Amino acid sequence: MKPSGKLLEVDLSVDYPNMPGALDQVRFDLDRGEILGLVGGSGSGKSTLAMAVLGLVQWKNGRVRGAIRFDGRELAAMREPELRAIRGSQISLVLQSPVSSLNPALRIETQFREAWKAHRSGLSSTHERELFLEHLRMVNLPAEPDFLRRYPSQISVGQAQRLLIAMAIMHRPKLLIADEPTSALDPITQAEVLALLARLNARLGMAILFISHDLLSIASLCRRVAILEQGRLVECADTAAIFQAPAHPFTRRLVEAVPALPHSFPSSLANIAAAVTGVSHARTAAAPQPQPASTLDSGTESCP
Ligand SMILES: Nc1ncnc2c1ncn2[C@@H]1O[C@H](COP(=O)(O)OP(=O)(O)OP(=O)(O)O)[C@@H](O)[C@H]1O
Ligand SMILES: [Mg+2]
Repeated sequence: MKPSGKLLEVDLSVDYPNMPGALDQVRFDLDRGEILGLVGGSGSGKSTLAMAVLGLVQWKNGRVRGAIRFDGRELAAMREPELRAIRGSQISLVLQSPVSSLNPALRIETQFREAWKAHRSGLSSTHERELFLEHLRMVNLPAEPDFLRRYPSQISVGQAQRLLIAMAIMHRPKLLIADEPTSALDPITQAEVLALLARLNARLGMAILFISHDLLSIASLCRRVAILEQGRLVECADTAAIFQAPAHPFTRRLVEAVPALPHSFPSSLANIAAAVTGVSHARTAAAPQPQPASTLDSGTESCP
């Protein structure tokens, strides 16, 4: 793969022993600072893709074929120590079940410290605590020593997800992979987490690969969306184009499954975004013109 200045360029397949082609020649790229949505049904390969980019799929007995170029480096060819230096530092992950992602036996401050010390050292414990409090503030959690002393059982699921986001951004990753980060949350907390991700993207310039089965959440956050069906990328286009002229039959079914909005509800995509997230998201609002449907024929698609 030739260098192109993109943050991430993927052209990969993944096989599991009992499931060859869990991902089948999935090609897409991601600009620096971009939020790309990845949507697909259960079992379509979304988490497999996230695990492959993080170099974790071999721990699930998966085999990666192809290329994963991140920030000019080829991840698919890297050994574990090199990958470990990138994971959690340059590429972070937030998962769907915040409570099980935290260690129930450790106080929040201890978990913050472990995340920090995995890649950095040299701060006094007072400065470390200031850093943790600053990150609690960034994700709208109580920036108080008392909060740091709590155990995961003493915070809500929504607070746990914000906490995990705070830990995930501590090393200022260039890419955050969020694998269904809102699906365990109630609708209001979901909207708050989406708004938080949009703010962090704007503030830190961090690209986000936002994985979801919910097209409306994707529309609220992402300018472009890639659609996975049974391990194949069937469509990849601007979010507006996906809603206005879905080219692939599977995408059409996804769009038709989005609940109809009342007539009085704001109809433009930008306003839907604002309604769902509570923020006016410039990337979504400024979505460029839809691509012609002719470039989005059904079959395996690569993401321009
Ligand atoms: N370790 C594994 N061994 C064998 N098959 C696996 C393994 N992990 C996932 N699979 C299979 O690979 C396919 C893709 O799974 P994956 O978890 O990536 O889907 P997903 O799109 O994330 O689904 P969901 O929306 O339910 O999270 C599924 O058919 C799944 O059964
Ligand atoms: Mg999954």
